[in-house]
Amino acid sequence: MDFESGSKEVASILSARELSHSFDYPLFSDISLDIAKKESVAVVGVSGSGKSTLLHILSSFLKPQKGRVELFGEDIYSLDYSRVLKIRRELIGIVFQSHYLFKGFTAKENIEVAALLAKTETDMDLIRSFSIERLLNKKIGDLSGGEQQRVSVARVLTKKPRMIFADEPTGNLDSKTAEEVMEQVFEYIDRNGAGLFLVTHDMRLASRCDRLYRLEGGALVQ
Ligand SMILES: Nc1ncnc2c1ncn2[C@@H]1O[C@H](COP(=O)(O)OP(=O)(O)OP(=O)(O)O)[C@@H](O)[C@H]1O
Ligand SMILES: [Mg+2]
Repeated sequence: MDFESGSKEVASILSARELSHSFDYPLFSDISLDIAKKESVAVVGVSGSGKSTLLHILSSFLKPQKGRVELFGEDIYSLDYSRVLKIRRELIGIVFQSHYLFKGFTAKENIEVAALLAKTETDMDLIRSFSIERLLNKKIGDLSGGEQQRVSVARVLTKKPRMIFADEPTGNLDSKTAEEVMEQVFEYIDRNGAGLFLVTHDMRLASRCDRLYRLEGGALVQ
């Protein structure tokens, strides 16, 4: 499925222009960023520098105080809510910093509901590749942090998104498991012509991305 805007295909998956945002104090200003198909971008930076905030803005969850964000050629903060929901369900996948799985449900139910909403099938090969088969019938609340993280990433890939946003997706994983999980993500991006925006504290992981920025002094520095 190639996503189209109008009748012409859009090469840039994400295009952000002059984003500024502050809470109690200014976090960042005039940040612009483009992500093309098959492209991965990593952002590192000290705790509190605004990485998660930037990710929420880019992924349609937080309207920036200034600037615009286009996803697949559409200005997401001027769209009808129903269109935004459709984009969230079908085109983007997000691994939040805290996992945001449905706690009372099993891992399998969490994965299935994501696939269902995105109108895709649950991909059992994918689940095997994350070594989470034996966790499928456990309730999310009974899983360890790292297990939840693997379920979150598997859940996102199951949706077959065209753009993935991942906020510290490997923060609770040992380095070997982290590498295995991210290998799947990079392979997915490449195979499906998707884009990746990754926030991480892991420099080794960040340097595997096509571009690496540091969020520092309110700006993205390469
Ligand atoms: N909804 C909010 N209301 C008020 N302040 C907020 C809100 N969300 C974030 N902040 C503040 O904005 C700053 C940046 O937060 P953010 O979560 O973006 O940082 P971060 O770079 O992701 O940090 P970490 O590496 O610890 O995850 C912090 O000082 C935080 O307290
Ligand atoms: Mg954060």
